[in-house]
Amino acid sequence: MKKTRAVITGVQGWVPEYVLTNRELETMVDTNDEWIVTRTGIKERRILKGENQGTSVIGINAVKGLLKKTNTDPEDIDLIICATVTPDMPFPATANLIADGVGAKNSYSFDISAACSGFLYALTMGSQFIETGMHKKVIVVGADKMSSIIDYQDRATCIIFGDGGGAVLLEPTEEEVGVMDSLLHADGAGAPYLHMKAGGSRKPASIETVNAREHYAYQEGSTVFKFAVTNMAEVSAQVMERNNLKAEDVAWLVPHQANKRIIDATANRMGVGPEKVMLNIEKYGNTTAGTLPLCLWDYESQLKKGDNIILAAFGGGFTWGAIYLKWGYDPK
Ligand SMILES: CC(C)(COP(=O)(O)OP(=O)(O)OC[C@H]1O[C@@H](n2cnc3c(N)ncnc32)[C@H](O)[C@@H]1OP(=O)(O)O)[C@@H](O)C(=O)NCCC(=O)NCCS
Repeated sequence: MKKTRAVITGVQGWVPEYVLTNRELETMVDTNDEWIVTRTGIKERRILKGENQGTSVIGINAVKGLLKKTNTDPEDIDLIICATVTPDMPFPATANLIADGVGAKNSYSFDISAACSGFLYALTMGSQFIETGMHKKVIVVGADKMSSIIDYQDRATCIIFGDGGGAVLLEPTEEEVGVMDSLLHADGAGAPYLHMKAGGSRKPASIETVNAREHYAYQEGSTVFKFAVTNMAEVSAQVMERNNLKAEDVAWLVPHQANKRIIDATANRMGVGPEKVMLNIEKYGNTTAGTLPLCLWDYESQLKKGDNIILAAFGGGFTWGAIYLKWGYDPK
């Protein structure tokens, strides 16, 4: 009997209109365009402005676009998984709000918290539901409104992050395409280096936590950088090795867009040239769970059926991982 795999049959991204440039950041903190571009590769990022605009707005816009382009009835969706660290509220899940917003009346939905590796975790999980035969149509969303947890007085973090995200539709196939392999890791000992100090059950919100600016993402940049350079490169090489993929077999590397130097290190370790590396960090920055679907969306018209693609990410937790997939369709 042929193995049923989960294949991506459509991808759609969404970013808010407002563009926060390096020049504007220069007016907010002691930094400059040249430093930001040289150290990170980022030129601008998008910001979701306005009252009551949470991460679900990003997810709803992306999923609506996805349903339209794949000609899918929202009532046929079985499950929506949303990877995010900036949920609209601690509960209910942002995925519930997205399902309601798009009219996915027959689906259930839940969130996954794995920071910048969230889309890899969610894609792996969504694929399992398809492979087991339990579901026929699963939507995986990766979205974050990072501006809601960024301290625009902290020059080491506010230059990196932006808002945005995307969604993919997963369906079953018996062809040799789809999600082929997944290698995921987590190490909670990394928590001190990238986390939010207050607002959770350990340290609920209070006047003191607000005054101490503890509701923002806290990051020890150089520790995270060293960790990321080693582990994102290593896990990408491992997933290639265990699937007998040589550099020339890989059509695309889809790396988490956190820092151009980390992306270059990963491509070097894999032996993959820059022409095969998806890159949009300069216009969106790090959108956390949003980076990978945003890349796939930006490059969709260049992808061909059967292309070998490696997705790789690292993030808070620490979490890291890589997925090997074969693209499922030619440009439409
Ligand atoms: C944050 C990051 C860009 C900083 O770059 P870096 O080369 O490591 O820089 P350092 O933190 O060592 O700081 C070097 C100097 O630049 C300064 N600096 C930091 N941010 C700056 C900014 N925006 N503009 C100008 N100078 C800045 C520092 O204060 C430091 O100055 P000092 O030497 O006088 O103390 C980098 O560490 C990084 O990208 N880390 C990984 C972050 C990441 O990927 N996070 C997402 C996880 S999913």
